[in-house]
Formats: sequence, structure tokens, C-alpha cells
Amino acid sequence: MTETRTVLITGCSSGIGLAAAVKFARGGDMVIATMRDLDRAGSLRQGLADAGVSADIRVLDVSDDAGTASGLEAVLADHGGIDVVISNAGIGIDGTTEELSVDDFRALFETNVLGAVRLIHGVMPVWRSRPGGRFIAVSSVSGAIGQPFNDAYCMSKFALEGLLESFAPVAAQFGVHVSLVEPGPVSGVFVDKSRGPQQQSSDGPYAEPRGRFQAVQDSAFDAAQTNDEIAQLLWDVAAVDEPMLRYQTSELVEKMVGLKFKDMSGQRVLGMTSRWI
Ligand SMILES: NC(=O)c1ccc[n+]([C@@H]2O[C@H](COP(=O)([O-])OP(=O)(O)OC[C@H]3O[C@@H](n4cnc5c(N)ncnc54)[C@H](OP(=O)(O)O)[C@@H]3O)[C@@H](O)[C@H]2O)c1
Repeated sequence: MTETRTVLITGCSSGIGLAAAVKFARGGDMVIATMRDLDRAGSLRQGLADAGVSADIRVLDVSDDAGTASGLEAVLADHGGIDVVISNAGIGIDGTTEELSVDDFRALFETNVLGAVRLIHGVMPVWRSRPGGRFIAVSSVSGAIGQPFNDAYCMSKFALEGLLESFAPVAAQFGVHVSLVEPGPVSGVFVDKSRGPQQQSSDGPYAEPRGRFQAVQDSAFDAAQTNDEIAQLLWDVAAVDEPMLRYQTSELVEKMVGLKFKDMSGQRVLGMTSRWI
């Protein structure tokens, strides 16, 4: 790796991506902070200015095949390479499967899973020829534990985990490190942006269990981590010589993911999630 790393981060208009862009820029990296809509760059610009640092802010919609390919080509041409990709862009949608359309599932898959695929397609040819690179994806505890009313989101994060666990050993042959960072609740706008229309309704067959789950979720978010905490871990993962495949961001997440990996029959996880509703 070069001394001043070139770090491309997706989804930098808010939350974890914004905090990571500022963190890496403060650390001296050349940050390419991307987002799907530059009209939403105000908070990032403010955060960078407050920290007295700068970044190359660009459009990148990871759900767009051609746009992601050409965006990465332009970055590679302008910066002469990319050392680290942080695949952070993500969306959620609340709802149990019956309430969600196939298009809802498709939309989450396009961004949360195929977004990472498109980034890998863009950088891997360059990383193979160097060789070397680092791909860090923001996954979730929802990539390990299926949760009620999070069917589409958990589908997408489980898929992301499977994708990168499969890709990692092959990538390693070319000096490319792949890591998944798994946060639990993180404060910010993500949960509000994920609310589906069915959440506004106080009736229907799922209203009661949804209400009980909502209370559990609200109390989990009372102890949410900050975006800066997650950005710090992303920084640590990018800095370590031999990064691991998975990083849980808190002791609570570590406990939950640990429960999953030990629960061969699935009955303990089901016992826990059933109590939430
Ligand atoms: N917040 C949590 O509790 C939590 C917990 C575990 C994991 N995560 C994961 O953390 C990551 C960041 O989420 P966050 O909490 O920081 O939420 P956030 O503030 O909503 O940030 C999500 C970012 O992704 C962007 N985005 C969405 N679709 C995109 C697309 N097609 N192309 C490019 N950018 C796109 C959003 O852009 P717009 O502003 O244009 O919407 C926004 O910048 C996500 O992958 C999420 O799944 C979050």
C-alpha cells in the first residue's frame, strides 16, 4: 500500500459513510467520498470543513451498473488507483414478507448486495494486476441473525456475508483483503428511512406483533453506537496488516453473532426472536 492511501467510500451523504469520510480524511488519506445525489452533500461538506480537511466528492449510485463502472473508471484514471474500498451504501425496509413486494426485495438486493458486486467488478482487475487492495463492507448483525419485520434487509445482509465469505479466499490469492464490519444499532436516520407504509397503519394482522417488536427495537436503539465509533473501527480494519473476515462493532453484537454460530438447529435464535414479538 502507498503511504497516503486512496480510499473510496460509498454512501457518504449521512451516517457511517459521512463519519468515515471525515475520519479517513483527518487521518491523511485521499478520500473519494461518493453518494448517489450530490444535492445531499451539504452535511459532508460541513463535516469536512469543521475538521479542516477535504475530500473528492463524487456521484456514485451503486445500484446503477453503468454509472458505477464509469464512476470507478474515472476515479482510477484521476487518482491513479484505489487502495481501499469501503462499501457502505445501504438501504432498509421494514415489513414481514407478505407485506413487501417483490420489487421491495429487489431494491434492497440491488443496493446492499449487487452494489458490492459492482464495486468489486470495478476494482478487482486493477487490484489483481498491482497486486493488492482492501475491500471493507459495512454489513450488520442482520447479516447473522434474522429478525422479525426485517425480512428483506436480513436477506440482503445474509447475501452480502455469503458473497464476501466466498470471494475472500480467492481475493486473498491476489493480496486483496476482504472484511465485513457488523454493527448493531447505530444512531442516525437509517431506521426512519427504512419505515415502510405498513408501519403507519395501526390495524391489520401484523399490527400487534409489529408493535411489540417496535418497542424492543426502540429500546435497542436507546443504546445505539455512534457513527464515529463505527468509523473508528473501519479505520482500524483498514490499518491492520492482516485484517480478519468479520468484525462485530460491540460486545452485544459479538454475543448475538456468537449465539448464531453456535446454534446449529436455529432453535435458540428462534427462541430469542420469538420473544421479541
Ligand atoms: N444505522 C444502523 O443502525 C445500521 C446498523 C447496521 C448496519 N448498518 C449499515 O450501515 C450502512 C450505512 O448506514 P447508515 O446507518 O449510515 O444509514 P444512512 O445514514 O441512511 O446512510 C446510508 C447511505 O447509503 C446511501 N445510499 C443508499 N442507496 C444508495 C445507492 N443506491 N447508491 C449509493 N448510495 C446509496 C444513502 O444515500 P441517500 O442519502 O441518498 O439516501 C446514505 O448516504 C448501511 O449499509 C447499513 O445497512 C446500519
